[in-house]
Amino acid sequence: MSEGKHNGKVISFINMKGGVGKTTLTKEIGFRLANSLNYKVLLIDIDPQINLTQSIFKRFGFAQSKDLANKSNIEENSDNNLKITEASIQNVLEGNISLSNPTDLDKAIFNIPNTNLSIIPGEFGLEFLTRNLNSSNLENGIYNFIDDNNLKDQFDYILIDCPPTYSSYTIAALKPSNYYVVPVKPEAYSMLGVDMLEKVVDETKKTNKVYFKDKDLKNLGIIITNVKAKEKEKPGILNLINDIENSRILKENGIRVFKNHFLHNSSLQSDMSYLIDTSNAEKYSKPNLVKLTEEFVSYTREDTK
Ligand SMILES: Nc1ncnc2c1ncn2[C@@H]1O[C@H](COP(=O)(O)OP(=O)(O)OP(=O)(O)O)[C@@H](O)[C@H]1O
Ligand SMILES: [Mg+2]
Repeated sequence: MSEGKHNGKVISFINMKGGVGKTTLTKEIGFRLANSLNYKVLLIDIDPQINLTQSIFKRFGFAQSKDLANKSNIEENSDNNLKITEASIQNVLEGNISLSNPTDLDKAIFNIPNTNLSIIPGEFGLEFLTRNLNSSNLENGIYNFIDDNNLKDQFDYILIDCPPTYSSYTIAALKPSNYYVVPVKPEAYSMLGVDMLEKVVDETKKTNKVYFKDKDLKNLGIIITNVKAKEKEKPGILNLINDIENSRILKENGIRVFKNHFLHNSSLQSDMSYLIDTSNAEKYSKPNLVKLTEEFVSYTREDTK
């Protein structure tokens, strides 16, 4: 998969509801695609909470240069060999990358050594740092960066972890996206957020028509998250899942639900650097991620512009 042009797909992980598993799924599916399936994967962290960046950096022993100025940001147990990168989403959004200088890409993309995985790290307090940018620069930043640098030729999958709020960052993520994936927890009212998201997507398409002329923006599907393996046959959870699968919003919009749900795994909560693909969670989580990622790949192969 690593040779030649890649015809990459850009996919946003998005839901206006917080804590549904957007970041965890971006990381787990992204890492599985790169680590076991040998795809070239770029993760983009556009959430000012930077959970994805923290998690990947902790795992691979890296820090952003700004963190050095403020040592308290660095985990106490991180070793002295902590390696530094200046890559940051801020440079992408501010258009600080010069095309004539290829090494400038290092200010945006951090290639994790000895892996097929790269990341555009997020920036804590991004709202504050980008407050002087006009909204159209902000909203076009990722699109232009991908386009100017032909990143779709270099990566098979570009996965964007979105914030739970609606803002210019949401539009910045949707503009370059071919697809969006919606993680949903099996809870009462969880589909209200999906309804709102569909409206946001429609509105984004309408107000940015030129961006969606040559390229679709399709809902890849709902992924039901955080389902406990031992409870998934119990009536309580089954009813909630049924309610999601049969909801009017999905029928009206022709949205599919992934057949594989994302199972609960308590290690995800206790260890930020945990990755299912390299774990020994052979009984539930590992086979679950294998199938979920397979399903993900198959939907992204369906015909689309
Ligand atoms: N399958 C899972 N099993 C156990 N815990 C999970 C699972 N998925 C996510 N979590 C935990 O739930 C919390 C929220 O998950 P995550 O950060 O991925 O959600 P999010 O949608 O990105 O949140 P936000 O809206 O704040 O960005 C985290 O503590 C995470 O570790
Ligand atoms: Mg998140």
